[in-house]
Amino acid sequence: MIATDQPATSVMPEARYEQLVQAVVDYAIYMLDPTGHVVSWNAGAQRIKGYRADEVIGRHFSLFFTAEDCAQGRPERLLLQALEQGVAQDEGWRVRKDGTQFWALAALDVIRDEQGRIIGLAKVTRDITDRRDSALQLDAMRAQLFQAQKLEALGQLSGGLAHDFNNLLTIILSSARLALTSQDPERIRRMLEHIVDAGQRGTQLTQQLLSFARHRQLNVARIAPVDVVASTRSLMEHALPQGIELVEQLQANLPAIEVDAGQLQMVLLNLMFNARDAIEGQGRISLVIECMQLVGEIEGLQGRFVRFDVQDDGQGIDPQVMPRIFEPFFTTKPFGKGTGLGLSQAYGFARQSNGAIRVASASGKGTCISLYLPACPEDQPLTDR
Ligand SMILES: Nc1ncnc2c1ncn2[C@@H]1O[C@H](COP(=O)(O)OP(=O)(O)OP(=O)(O)O)[C@@H](O)[C@H]1O
Ligand SMILES: [Mg+2]
Repeated sequence: MIATDQPATSVMPEARYEQLVQAVVDYAIYMLDPTGHVVSWNAGAQRIKGYRADEVIGRHFSLFFTAEDCAQGRPERLLLQALEQGVAQDEGWRVRKDGTQFWALAALDVIRDEQGRIIGLAKVTRDITDRRDSALQLDAMRAQLFQAQKLEALGQLSGGLAHDFNNLLTIILSSARLALTSQDPERIRRMLEHIVDAGQRGTQLTQQLLSFARHRQLNVARIAPVDVVASTRSLMEHALPQGIELVEQLQANLPAIEVDAGQLQMVLLNLMFNARDAIEGQGRISLVIECMQLVGEIEGLQGRFVRFDVQDDGQGIDPQVMPRIFEPFFTTKPFGKGTGLGLSQAYGFARQSNGAIRVASASGKGTCISLYLPACPEDQPLTDR
């Protein structure tokens, strides 16, 4: 028996395209005439927007936009952009037939005939409400994680700070007592100077803490790495035990970076807390900052980067533990000592800032964590702060 099915080539190509477009239900695919009126309608468009073909064909596509978008001329702007540039893309709220809204990702492409004349526009729209919701949830979680980490970091700092405040109060009280009992005007003056000096140092400390603790939105600005290091160092000094030395090695003329300074400060503090915790007794933490050219060797990154190395000569990371250190809530520290959020926060920050984070460690020899952040182009000035 000879097969009686029609060979595929005998079906008109246009009919096949039509079948294809009609079969798609996840995308609204339809055509507009050059003035923005609907010319064709597929099953996906009906499913996503709720209109049947006979209800929309001939109507202007502004029908799918919210009243505010229409008032601001968004449909016309999109149409104009597509006609002038050949393509226009948009993301925003769209309205279904029943009045409910969905978050759409839409593309508008010009279609031309053989002579190059515009005969219409192809419109492809996707309902990405779910994707947007998950992205928003992820942002909210990230913000919560950031807050939790900040509290943890403040907790880490507060022990050292309480000690420093106590020292300042001791200076103030003893100087005041001495001044009260002294008859010598010169001595009284010296005591008062001690008091003012200690008070000023206390104010500085609280100011640093307040600026660190303040809840801020992601606040990306062009900053000099040196400034972040200076404020991180002054906080860190209160959290280091006697036997641990902090060394800095900053290359001269480092380029600016464009990141959230508060987050970078917290990431550096966390890396230094980790380094501190890895050192038993005497040791050294080095912060090395250099500018370098990457050519794809670090997670495919290319271009000029500023690398922040936090290096310690502590116990190192066990190879069995290594694959898990960036997991949220993974910690090898005893209860109450670590929450396991520091490195996951650092990882998230590096990714969000278009950079990367790398670890090099050998058991018993120490650890080096390198944070790569993109350098700003040289001709751009620092943001006024
Ligand atoms: N410099 C380091 N030296 C040795 N081990 C390290 C170092 N940095 C991280 N680790 C290991 O990685 C684990 C995870 O680090 P992470 O900073 O995410 O959490 P944590 O320090 O345990 O807790 P948290 O940072 O929330 O206080 C640590 O528990 C530790 O085992
Ligand atoms: Mg940590």
